[in-house]
Amino acid sequence: MVRPNSRSVFLLCVSWAFLLSHINCQQIPTVLWHGMGDTCCNPLSLGSIITLIQQKIPGIYVKSLRLGNNFEEDFLSGFFMNSNDQIANVCKQLAADPKLQNGYNAVGFSQGGQFWRAVAQRCPTPPMYNLISIGGQQQGVYGFPRCPGDNSTICDYVRKLLNLGAYESLVQAEYWQDPLQEQKYRKKCIFLPDINQENTKNATYKTNLMKIKNLVLVKFLRDTMVDPKDSEWFGFYKEGQSKETFTLFESKLYTEDWLGLKEMNNTGRLHFLTSDTDHLQFSEEWFIQNIINVYLK
Ligand SMILES: *[C@@H]1O[C@H](CO)[C@@H](O)[C@H](O)[C@H]1NC(C)=O
Ligand SMILES: *[C@@H]1O[C@H](CO)[C@@H](O)[C@H](O)[C@H]1NC(C)=O
Ligand SMILES: *[C@@H]1O[C@H](CO)[C@@H](O)[C@H](O)[C@H]1NC(C)=O
Repeated sequence: MVRPNSRSVFLLCVSWAFLLSHINCQQIPTVLWHGMGDTCCNPLSLGSIITLIQQKIPGIYVKSLRLGNNFEEDFLSGFFMNSNDQIANVCKQLAADPKLQNGYNAVGFSQGGQFWRAVAQRCPTPPMYNLISIGGQQQGVYGFPRCPGDNSTICDYVRKLLNLGAYESLVQAEYWQDPLQEQKYRKKCIFLPDINQENTKNATYKTNLMKIKNLVLVKFLRDTMVDPKDSEWFGFYKEGQSKETFTLFESKLYTEDWLGLKEMNNTGRLHFLTSDTDHLQFSEEWFIQNIINVYLK
């Protein structure tokens, strides 16, 4: 019988350690999608999130999506670029990035949250693992209490158009759901009714969404920007009024399982988180403990 000597044991250990550390280095990349009134890389918002993730997960590849050719176009796209075009543009960016081909985790801020879900439903390649919607308006909005973003000129303009009931030309109009005019919303709104399967049911949307591992929905308990804030958990105003809301579990989208969310909940893959703050005002500590440590590592 050949007994391993200490040198060969040592070498074996070293090569195992090398192999393991190498495997550990293959971190799943994270891709971020900014909200309206923000850009991919603003050092005060998404720029600091990128840095934080990179600090906590050394070696990770973090991409922050930019729509358009420069920061100004990126900023304006949040307001004015047709949602369906934004989704198609992002699908192309993901497919073209060699570092993402084995899959990625998606983090969306505000409208980035529902846009990521559209990507999951329409473009399953490369594969998305976890989808984290941070204050995403999964059932749209009805109201514009405080304009997100710094530029009041643009905000006033957006508010004026939305009050005119314009289901055209504006990104937010594409997830503007008027509970007093549900029929008009379902027929005219070009984005949300489609991804929420309000009209025709596209079986592919359900199959694709169910490919992700976890859907994480973060609601801001003191949100003054998203009306109703229940939308961040797939709730919305009951039809015909704008006071009482329904929850995801009470909706047909869930009970008839148009998107696979029922099955995901029953297999422990649907997660409801809260931050006891205003819209997107979570603390660094909260983000590390609830998002980075649990879903990005
Ligand atoms: C369903 O969605 C898939 C993915 O976006 C798309 O390719 C297909 O054309 C859609 N089918 C219908 C009937 O709209
Ligand atoms: C706000 O946006 C408008 C339109 O793009 C621009 O003309 C104006 O200079 C901006 N204001 C600020 C304070 O950035
Ligand atoms: C969703 O999942 C949770 C946790 O597994 C469970 O407690 C809850 O009953 C489920 N909700 C519904 C409506 O089935």
